Amino acid sequence: MTIGGSQADAPVVAIDGPSGSGKGTISQLLAARLGWHYLDSGALYRLTALAAARHGVALDDAAGLARLAAALDVRFEIDGDGERTLLDGAPVGSELRSETTGDGASRVAALPEVRAALLGRQRAFRDTPGLVADGRDMGTVVFPSAEIKIFLTASPEARVERRYKQLKEKGIDANLAGLSEELAERDRRDSERDAAPLRPASDAVVVDSTALDIAACLDRCLEIVRQRLS
Ligand code: DC
Repeated sequence: MTIGGSQADAPVVAIDGPSGSGKGTISQLLAARLGWHYLDSGALYRLTALAAARHGVALDDAAGLARLAAALDVRFEIDGDGERTLLDGAPVGSELRSETTGDGASRVAALPEVRAALLGRQRAFRDTPGLVADGRDMGTVVFPSAEIKIFLTASPEARVERRYKQLKEKGIDANLAGLSEELAERDRRDSERDAAPLRPASDAVVVDSTALDIAACLDRCLEIVRQRLS
């Protein structure tokens, strides 16, 4: 199945929050439980950073990066073998989730030109029966009319620990002290930038997942969704 399509009035659950808050896991599980589409908007920024490295475009060349972002040949596929992201027709693999790619993504994401170039592409994911959209500005900029907005957060310590485990499970090398510094730096860049800074929408429900395991956090989010949709 190729994810995508477009139906501008389909319901949207916007899930925003900092790195390591559990957003990705919870959003995917929520989409699966609801039978809705899923948008991993961070992947688009990561793929832009990867494409920049491949094409030799500097991470401060706003016009060049925006052109790359607008022309990004990307497909998200799900089949019996699981999820696959293809860039220029070839699977991306673990490079997509590496800290280097995440750091590059955070840099390109600070550029308004890149954000503008990716806006229409993100909105095109809105389709029936509904969309779970995961990112930093889903509720504030990309889908301001989303029916349900959740801001998922957790303490910096819990987020670093989760990231560490996640990377290890994927066979990606990491160390806690380095991750902690990188996360703090990325938090700062994502929250303090002028273009669509990370912050809860005024109508978002804030969920602190520090003391919640995945099942409890998913239950809390499902409860919020059901309340809002009823
Ligand atoms: O969620 P993630 O770690 O895959 O996101 C990678 C980077 O992209 C993150 O540092 C912030 C940026 N991002 C963004 O600015 N807006 C989004 N909607 C999603 C991600």
